[in-house]
Amino acid sequence: MAFTVRLLLLISSLFLVLESLFAQTNSGKVDVGASLSATAGNSTSWLSPSGDFAFGFRQLENSDLFLLSTWYAKIPDRTIVWYANNGDSPAAVAKGSLLNLTADSGLVLTSPRGVQLWKSESISGVVAFGLLNDTGNFVLEDDNSESLWETFNNPTHTILPGQDIEKGGKLWSQQSETNFSKGRFQLRMRDDGDLVLTTINLPSEFANMPYYASHTTSDSNSSTAGRKLEFNSSGYMYVLRENGEKLTINEAETVSARSFYLRATLNFDGVFAQYSHPKNSTGNVSWSVVWSVPENICAMTVDSGLGVCGYNSICTIQDQRPTCACPTRYSLLDPNDPYGNCKPDFIQGCEEDELTVTKDLYEVQTLRNTDWPTSDYMQLKPSTAESCNQSCFEDCLCAVAIYRDESCWKKKLPLSNGRVDSGLKSQAFIKVKKGNLALVPQPPNPDDKKRKNQATLLRVGSALLGTSIFANVMLSAIVCMGFFFIYRKKHVRPNQNVLDSNLRSFSYEELKEATNGFNEELGKGAFGVVYKGILQIGSGVPVAVKKLNFVVQDSEKEFKTELSIIGQTHHKNLVRLVGYCDEGQERLLVYEFLSNGTLANFLFADAKPSWKQRIDIAYGVAKGLLYLHEECSTQIIHCDIKPQNILLDDYYNARIADFGLAKLLMMNQSQTQTAIRGTKGYVAPEWFRNLPITTKVDVYSFGVVLLEAICCRRSVDMENVSEERAILTDWVYDCYLEGDLDAIVDNEMEALHEKTKLERFVMVALWCIQEDLSLRPTMRKVVQMLEGVVEVHVPPCPSPYSRAG
Ligand SMILES: *[C@@H]1O[C@H](CO)[C@@H](O)[C@H](O)[C@H]1NC(C)=O
Ligand SMILES: *[C@@H]1O[C@H](CO)[C@@H](O)[C@H](O)[C@H]1NC(C)=O
Ligand SMILES: *[C@@H]1O[C@H](CO)[C@@H](O)[C@H](O)[C@H]1NC(C)=O
Ligand SMILES: *[C@@H]1O[C@H](CO)[C@@H](O)[C@H](O)[C@H]1NC(C)=O
Ligand SMILES: *[C@@H]1O[C@H](CO)[C@@H](O)[C@H](O)[C@H]1NC(C)=O
Ligand SMILES: *[C@@H]1O[C@H](CO)[C@@H](O)[C@H](O)[C@H]1NC(C)=O
Ligand SMILES: *[C@@H]1O[C@H](CO)[C@@H](O)[C@H](O)[C@H]1NC(C)=O
Ligand SMILES: *[C@@H]1O[C@H](CO)[C@@H](O)[C@H](O)[C@H]1NC(C)=O
Ligand SMILES: *[C@@H]1O[C@H](CO)[C@@H](O)[C@H](O)[C@H]1NC(C)=O
Repeated sequence: MAFTVRLLLLISSLFLVLESLFAQTNSGKVDVGASLSATAGNSTSWLSPSGDFAFGFRQLENSDLFLLSTWYAKIPDRTIVWYANNGDSPAAVAKGSLLNLTADSGLVLTSPRGVQLWKSESISGVVAFGLLNDTGNFVLEDDNSESLWETFNNPTHTILPGQDIEKGGKLWSQQSETNFSKGRFQLRMRDDGDLVLTTINLPSEFANMPYYASHTTSDSNSSTAGRKLEFNSSGYMYVLRENGEKLTINEAETVSARSFYLRATLNFDGVFAQYSHPKNSTGNVSWSVVWSVPENICAMTVDSGLGVCGYNSICTIQDQRPTCACPTRYSLLDPNDPYGNCKPDFIQGCEEDELTVTKDLYEVQTLRNTDWPTSDYMQLKPSTAESCNQSCFEDCLCAVAIYRDESCWKKKLPLSNGRVDSGLKSQAFIKVKKGNLALVPQPPNPDDKKRKNQATLLRVGSALLGTSIFANVMLSAIVCMGFFFIYRKKHVRPNQNVLDSNLRSFSYEELKEATNGFNEELGKGAFGVVYKGILQIGSGVPVAVKKLNFVVQDSEKEFKTELSIIGQTHHKNLVRLVGYCDEGQERLLVYEFLSNGTLANFLFADAKPSWKQRIDIAYGVAKGLLYLHEECSTQIIHCDIKPQNILLDDYYNARIADFGLAKLLMMNQSQTQTAIRGTKGYVAPEWFRNLPITTKVDVYSFGVVLLEAICCRRSVDMENVSEERAILTDWVYDCYLEGDLDAIVDNEMEALHEKTKLERFVMVALWCIQEDLSLRPTMRKVVQMLEGVVEVHVPPCPSPYSRAG
């Protein structure tokens, strides 16, 4: 037993001897020619004489990259106080990279393949050796022990006792706790002597107004201006003035630099803080904050940039450190960056048709003592909390209203510098969309123009029908069959994700419930039956649910792609798709519900609608078609324009329905030949002539619908009118030739009062129904002609061939 004790003592004293020997040999000096290699496990660093600091490679967390850095070697945290960087980014290197100490360039970092990755910049002189001082400074010196380069003169985010920041010098925050890229906060000793904390609008260097300043500029008195920031070796930090006076940064009780490690770090969240850590760490100890500036970083406001938290985020201060959170129904743009931007989970819009249903779509969340001090666009005073809330609720531009002291501030997105603070005594009314019904589509893709120019030609079989329209009409009725054709460059596909953000996916059960078991039939379309439904959102949103009766051969992906194209369309003269159901064999489309039925019912009812209403509807249809042809992200040819496919909303605005279902319901293009499309009386002659199908087929159909709107009768009517009047297009042309406009409108006074307009409309319609498609105008031209912006020439005979024959 005694022997064992003696042996242990002997061994331990031996160790002490070895240790002191080692301590003597480690002077912190590193000779030229020495090198370190970036490898895991084994020691790959040089130590300071005391062993407090290490300089070398550190493996980054959750990464196989290494960072050349200086750190505290004796504490478990091994906190990094300096790291090699190339401006914006850390010089993180791969395993096997080498650090050499050379005479000419000092420290040189090379990749395993020998490519130089970083070096100690601007060395003038010959390096004799390197030295890791016990202060934590790594110094390159020449023969005369003159310093050529120091880590202290090239600081990153931390300064240590004994380290100064001269005029022009700065500290950078890093991107996040674990990301060493350059962040947006800076501590700078400005040339005018002021020590400031600012945010930078990355990636530029533009510095916003300081959120902290020592106010030691040379403006007032050059002798009291700041010369440098000193962190002296006793652990005091102050701005040293030109006249030698000291302005202490923070009057905190200073802890002994002898028994504590001290550092001051500009944190990634913009807080500049001094920390202490006991040197003799026994047990569970870590860094504690001695002082920090600013007191409340959440309260800083940046006029044209971000605060601590990203846009639309809310900052909360705790122990002088900020945390960020998104408001309800907002979420992080980058889930891995809790200090980043928040985005609304909905899209707020000012579209006409949305305005009418604001009450159903939005609700208001109230937050106490929360404010976004910037982003105002209007102040109302005096105001009450209630009227403030209401004013924002009814204003489609308003995202949030803040009420305080009888004032109301209305704010728009993005909201910035948001914070929560009991001192604010304010109420925030945040407008959010109810549920997850996203009604508003994405804006069109910028490279659409290119896409549209790519023509995919569709050949049409001519077998079924004869060549003249007159003959067609005489054929027995053909079952109305819609056709919809989307025409686009095949390989440019819209982003699938668009679907997720625009259209809601419903379960079959949900829709069954909404339609009360498909109870109330609104109508039968070409592709299925349409039912009325009510979505249980808020006070209930009425919808039209179309149950497709086609078994779709196409893949799931195809279905969704087509849907997303329809989902992206957005125009006040189009019926909007709200969502879909795709469950097994069941495919349903959910549209907004329009209260006033179809144009067919409206035009051909017993009570004749007014001339003005008919004209407005014609404008609307023209504009909707122009949008489909030229303005939406993917060109859509409707192919079945007829009064049954045009719906009327609460205000009798025309809304084109059933566009863009081609790929969805039919087939790939090789199969198109087998299908009959268009509807008798409205179809363009090229359908029967094996000619390519272009937007001009819609122009033709529009011409027919326009004539129907003008005359308020069906394009083909064998019952109510005499034989020579049965075919509307032919009859109107005859009347026009004879100058008999009165007959066209059946002597309607209102129309005849606007005879020029009437004549213009008739002429435009005659241009649209030209059998020669090259003579037909584009929808853009049509709109311009209807509006009277461009002159309308005398139209030729629409169907010279059939007439001749
Ligand atoms: C450490 O280095 C020694 C030789 O220098 C080597 O044998 C050993 O495998 C290394 N250990 C690790 C963990 O890399
Ligand atoms: C760096 O040091 C290693 C090992 O001492 C040596 O093989 C290599 O040639 C040196 N590289 C340079 C660029 O001096
Ligand atoms: C190294 O540190 C000592 C104090 O520990 C200091 O006196 C000396 O000036 C330092 N050397 C350099 C080059 O910073
Ligand atoms: C660090 O942040 C920068 C800038 O945000 C980013 O580009 C980089 O990918 C990030 N690095 C890591 C390892 O996450
Ligand atoms: C500047 O300050 C010094 C010391 O505070 C004072 O002696 C001097 O008169 C001041 N100069 C001016 C121009 O105010
Ligand atoms: C550091 O500054 C404090 C406060 O001015 C002073 O009392 C102390 O002597 C200074 N220490 C050194 C080493 O200069
Ligand atoms: C650290 O602790 C040892 C003994 O545990 C003691 O001798 C030494 O003085 C302490 N150092 C400091 C700086 O307190
Ligand atoms: C050490 O302290 C930290 C917080 O300072 C705490 O979360 C952790 O549980 C402690 N560990 C032990 C072993 O006490
Ligand atoms: C704000 O206005 C909305 C819409 O009128 C209303 O539903 C909500 O209850 C109001 N909230 C408060 C706190 O007045």
